[in-house]
Amino acid sequence: MYNIRKVTEDLYWIGSSDRRLALFENVYPIPQGVAYNSYVLTDKKTVLFDTVDSAVAARFFENLRQILSGKPLDYMVINHMEPDHCSQIANIMREYPSVKIVCNTKTKQMIEQFFPQTYAEDTFLLIKEGDTLSTGNHELTFIFAPMVHWPEVMLTFDKTTGTLFSADAFGTFGALNGNIFADEVDFEKDYLDEARRYYTNIVGKYGQQVQMLLKKASALNIEMICPLHGFIWRQNLQFILEKYNKWSAYEPEEKGVVIAYGSIYGNTENAAEILASKLAEQGVKNIKMYDVSVTHPSYIISECFKYSDLIFAASTYNAGIFVNMENLLHDIIAHNLQNRKIFLIDNGSWAPIAGKQMRELLQGLKNCNVSENTISIKSALQENQISALEQMAKEIALP
Ligand code: FEO
Repeated sequence: MYNIRKVTEDLYWIGSSDRRLALFENVYPIPQGVAYNSYVLTDKKTVLFDTVDSAVAARFFENLRQILSGKPLDYMVINHMEPDHCSQIANIMREYPSVKIVCNTKTKQMIEQFFPQTYAEDTFLLIKEGDTLSTGNHELTFIFAPMVHWPEVMLTFDKTTGTLFSADAFGTFGALNGNIFADEVDFEKDYLDEARRYYTNIVGKYGQQVQMLLKKASALNIEMICPLHGFIWRQNLQFILEKYNKWSAYEPEEKGVVIAYGSIYGNTENAAEILASKLAEQGVKNIKMYDVSVTHPSYIISECFKYSDLIFAASTYNAGIFVNMENLLHDIIAHNLQNRKIFLIDNGSWAPIAGKQMRELLQGLKNCNVSENTISIKSALQENQISALEQMAKEIALP
């Protein structure tokens, strides 16, 4: 049975949610599930904007058949070729063999890679950036957004209604629960953290490309944003646009401290706990502590994008950095985080080396200031090291 929601007069949401998947991209925990959005425009020509993940394909086809009610599907716009959206291309081609695939040349190449069965050349309507396509009452145009999040990504803009089909951009983790519009929920309270975790982990590496997209978007009269995951934005678009501007510029959203620690028997953890108390005594309010062995790195990366100051405290392990901390730091570097103040604590009972190695790794981050003063613990924090923690707290508390 179909489950469709009307977006505007002739635009329909035909997506669905998956609450069973444990790991998005087989990497990121999604305890609240994830939504795969697809949209259909029922103009004189009918248009499908992207498909869905195979997990929800049955629902998607029920919805699509209901909307079309026997009419042909004229166009299938492919904005993004990642399988969480494109998995149903071959099935669409079988069910609607006369459909034209609207895409760019990179997308066509990927379609032929993912779906090796040959489609005739005239199956494709290849477009370039800025081309337009009239569907009757609507005029669509295409905005290329390479690396937001794959190289073939484009966005489609309906000039008639001001609707931007934004691919992965402006999406969020989390299933949709009946409400499909961001203004139908308390987005800031209930979804912003997951939107940030989604953005920073999926697209965070490509801030420069997102900045280029935001510049292109600023020239458009956007009334509505329809992403491929999460909520549709039809009110207060500035809220999510400003968040994207900050995240992609690698600017912290607010002053605050993330303390990520890797501790084997609790002594490094204790130093981190004492530092947190010293920070509180200095008036620091936003202090977020994470045990890297307990919390998935995607959550910590998201917090590192949110806050201004980062502390990494790790034991020495196998003559290197405690393994879960090493993984976190590699992940942070891979996501291209910038513009942060960083402080280090290490521990080692006979040869503490984690601090030196963490510092070497973190040199890979742009515009980050790693404090010269690593606090180095031998087995357990000593009384005479409390003043060093106090000094670190004072330095962090500076505006
Ligand atoms: Fe939701 Fe890059 O795919």
